[in-house]
Amino acid sequence: MTSLGQHPSLPVSEFFSKFASVYVRQTGHSTLSILTDVITNIVQTSAYPVGPDSVVHDTAAGPGIGAAALVASLPKDQLPKKMLVSDNVSMMVSAALESLAASTLPDVDCKQLDSQDLQSVPDNYFTHSLNNFSIFTFPRPIDAIRETYRTLSPGGLAVVTCWRRFAPVFIVRAAQQKIRPDLPLMLTPGPEFCEEGVLRKVVEEGGFANDNITMDDKILVVDDDENIAGLTMLMTGPLMSKAREGYTEEEEAGWPGAVSQAVKEEVAQFGGIRFEVYILLASK
Ligand SMILES: C[S@@+](CC[C@H](N)C(=O)[O-])C[C@H]1O[C@@H](n2cnc3c(N)ncnc32)[C@H](O)[C@@H]1O
Repeated sequence: MTSLGQHPSLPVSEFFSKFASVYVRQTGHSTLSILTDVITNIVQTSAYPVGPDSVVHDTAAGPGIGAAALVASLPKDQLPKKMLVSDNVSMMVSAALESLAASTLPDVDCKQLDSQDLQSVPDNYFTHSLNNFSIFTFPRPIDAIRETYRTLSPGGLAVVTCWRRFAPVFIVRAAQQKIRPDLPLMLTPGPEFCEEGVLRKVVEEGGFANDNITMDDKILVVDDDENIAGLTMLMTGPLMSKAREGYTEEEEAGWPGAVSQAVKEEVAQFGGIRFEVYILLASK
């Protein structure tokens, strides 16, 4: 159920609670792969790479994706001296704690915090802030950027990513068209963020100067069986039950087949499941 005041296209916390334990598999590692690539090829080649003196925040981190991406992309002696992993869903924070228990990060803290209100964090605290594929889920994205700006030290670097094409929504819509083309198509959270220029505008409105923002884009084509199977599980499972609202039992029974067919069509068209991404770097 959508909470009061929240746009119907935005997922509620309950959705992310159910998602926590299966998150990495059912995203087909997409958010982790992209962030690892962004850190390796964009952040570490920038004027402000992460290093042993860095203090990094991963905000709306899910089950610790930013921390996992840092560990995957940096040698141990370049890992940040301190890291805060936060999310407003307690089950995501628990999943992060579990996944980071044996991590090589020197000092990592996992906390339940609202990205839009980081009261407990002092001004000018972090050297780097990661906000990976979350901004479109916030009811008040500008407030989240304001908090990123406030908590970042002068010269500090923020990385904000969002989808330009979130493939599962296209595949699910294709499956819906096969079974009940008369019913409304599934909504994508924060659809305006898929449009060129919206992410940049929000980040500027949140306090970052236009001249200190750079944009990049990336395409990820997921083509290995294991990750395609994980994404298929997401699309056929309870997390996407909204797509089957109003279905009869018989139509429900046809859903896995329709999704599999739509996945095949996506793979035939793009060589895999194709994600398109906007990447924004902003310095304070
Ligand atoms: C699509 S997931 C992205 C997770 C992770 N950053 C990644 O790269 O995969 C969005 C995350 O944002 C979190 N979230 C949504 N609204 C939030 C808020 N107001 N404050 C903090 N986290 C929030 C959700 O709980 C979820 O874990």
